[in-house]
Amino acid sequence: MQSDDLKSLVEAALPAIAAADAASLEELRVSLLGKNGNVTMLLKSLGGMEPEARKAAGAEINLIKAQITDALSARRAVLDAKALEQKLAAERIDVTQPPRPDSQGALHPLSRTQEELAAIFAPMGFTIKDGPDIESDWHNFSALNIPSHHPARAMMDTFYLRAPENARPPVLRTHTSPVQIRTMLEWAKTEGLGASPSPIRIVVPGRTFRADHDATHSPMFHQCEGLVIGQDITLGHLKGCLIDFLRAFFGVPELPVRFRASYFPFTEPSMEVDIGWSKKTGEIGGGTDWLEILGSGMVHPSVLANCGIDPRRFQGFAFGVGLERITMLKHGINDLRLFYESDVRWLRHYGFSALTPASLHEGI
Ligand code: PHE
Repeated sequence: MQSDDLKSLVEAALPAIAAADAASLEELRVSLLGKNGNVTMLLKSLGGMEPEARKAAGAEINLIKAQITDALSARRAVLDAKALEQKLAAERIDVTQPPRPDSQGALHPLSRTQEELAAIFAPMGFTIKDGPDIESDWHNFSALNIPSHHPARAMMDTFYLRAPENARPPVLRTHTSPVQIRTMLEWAKTEGLGASPSPIRIVVPGRTFRADHDATHSPMFHQCEGLVIGQDITLGHLKGCLIDFLRAFFGVPELPVRFRASYFPFTEPSMEVDIGWSKKTGEIGGGTDWLEILGSGMVHPSVLANCGIDPRRFQGFAFGVGLERITMLKHGINDLRLFYESDVRWLRHYGFSALTPASLHEGI
């Protein structure tokens, strides 16, 4: 190879490199310095030369290899810098722009109520339980001491589902009480077998269904069930627990609470629970009127027995409260249908920030 040839190789390569874009630069590198590249082939050809000639040619070829390598990396640096500049320009963020309005959502008042119940009952040792929306007739009625002829079944305006032939149709649960049954059945087979079993203490917030629709009833609504079963549970525990709950929930420390004898098939004795309020102003805890808030009672011995729990050894209490009802009262919402209209303006007005969790410390 003549020096002239080398010279023309360099003279052709350097301007091409200087003008290359990212893709053609890589092509040039391969064609010059790659495995079969021009410069590589030249270096390989040194092997067949006489020692003297090899020395001179070797020095020359290495020189142009260095020149080409430098030119390639210089061009690459220029292209990289240009690409970065373009990227920065394209991805520029104007940090002085005002934030988009209304980007923060709000928690539905019913979700907030559920959070508040958890915050009130958890420190009392309750855990939260869940259960299916579709229940067997047995879990929803029979096990709860509501036999097939019982008028309470009609009271509940039940949605029945289609049943396989000769079977009792499953129902959309009319209350959260079937979760009591599920919990007690499970407990009787495990914890309840022990010598000193730890008590059941659960709250069950969830959806319930009845065929009813007006300003204060919806075919789908929410309840929260409570259940405590142990060896020494009394009516006193029931009263203390519910008085604490209602006072914390409504934020009225001296809220008057009244227990009024009532009837539920699954509790004995049964009590309706009222709170003091003013019919005229709607003020909770003010005035001299009473407002019915929830149902409660000592779990009926037959219900315990239906779940495999010995009523002579264990007893307890249960309660059920409508979540829409207490939420409406607490926040002055007068039409229950608004809960389910998904009107964003309504939600913005009655909703809660998800960033301020319900807690007893901040005062529910
Ligand atoms: N399950 C009852 C209802 O839906 C409420 C309740 C629950 C009453 C537990 C007493 C005990 O009306």
